[in-house]
Amino acid sequence: MPTCEPIKILVTNQKGGVGKSTISANLAAYLAIQESLEVSLIDFDRQASSSHWTKKAPDIGIRVSQAEINYQSTGLALLSARANLRKYSSGAQISICDFTWTPAMSQDFMMDFDMVLIPSSSAKFEMASTEIFILEYVQKRMARLAANKQILIVVPSRVDQNYASQGAFTNLDFLANCFVAPPVHRTPEIDSYVYQDFFCVCSDKAVADNFSAFGRYIAQKISERKEAVKTLSISGPSINREISKKVSVLDDYRKRAKNLGFYGGAAMAELKQDSNPDTPQDASTKTSVGNRFVPGFLRKNQD
Ligand SMILES: Nc1ncnc2c1ncn2[C@@H]1O[C@H](COP(=O)(O)OP(=O)(O)O)[C@@H](O)[C@H]1O
Ligand SMILES: [Mg+2]
Repeated sequence: MPTCEPIKILVTNQKGGVGKSTISANLAAYLAIQESLEVSLIDFDRQASSSHWTKKAPDIGIRVSQAEINYQSTGLALLSARANLRKYSSGAQISICDFTWTPAMSQDFMMDFDMVLIPSSSAKFEMASTEIFILEYVQKRMARLAANKQILIVVPSRVDQNYASQGAFTNLDFLANCFVAPPVHRTPEIDSYVYQDFFCVCSDKAVADNFSAFGRYIAQKISERKEAVKTLSISGPSINREISKKVSVLDDYRKRAKNLGFYGGAAMAELKQDSNPDTPQDASTKTSVGNRFVPGFLRKNQD
């Protein structure tokens, strides 16, 4: 067994266009350049934006891999994602995975990482969906997250320079292992950097300073994570013990989302179940068409 396991970082969000690939490529560069770390960048996206960027920019020794996931079933998807993660992380000090989240992937995949970075714009609608995404994940895995001490970091991405993060993502404040990173600003002339240079060393000092502040923050969290890993134990302190009291925020959100009609994941089914944990699920509420789950609000006219 290697003496030093790589620190694995997942950069994900279910939305496209939020800056996952830009952040993955530039964080890989920051950690390689400023922190002298051996970085493996694993691109799980077919668009391959982050791997293109890193391959076309000057070679700074980042190992870049394109990973394929087999989506024939959720079981295979998880297995193939894990196999890729293991294979391409091996030998690196840090691995960074660029992955657009999809319900076709088991959330267990997220458990394999030391840190999960979730880029999100500052649009209220997107902030709410990011919070739902995190709360759902955390709620389902309280005990394991407590034992794992995984770090979740929301990254305000492509935000205006005058953006103030105070007051943003406050529904996550109660989570001891969840943080909001310094924002990555919208770069007006981004097309002159894409594929050619990295933010942290680019000639526009404002861009370099901004991304470096973000990079330093992540580097600090990596150090904290390395320390925490040394003391990890199955019965570690329950960092999310408070969550059961506060997780009603998630249920409120789901109800609100349900009323707005824009949210209908499998979580909607659990909403009903969760409120009656001791009651076995009534066969009539467990409707599915083939293997596809049909959420309650879509079923209301079917009785
Ligand atoms: N900080 C930023 N400033 C300006 N444009 C950005 C920034 N980050 C990303 N973009 C642009 O937004 C688009 C989507 O970014 P990308 O990193 O590909 O997002 P994702 O991987 O989440 O789909 C791209 O055209 C990219 O150039
Ligand atoms: Mg991308």
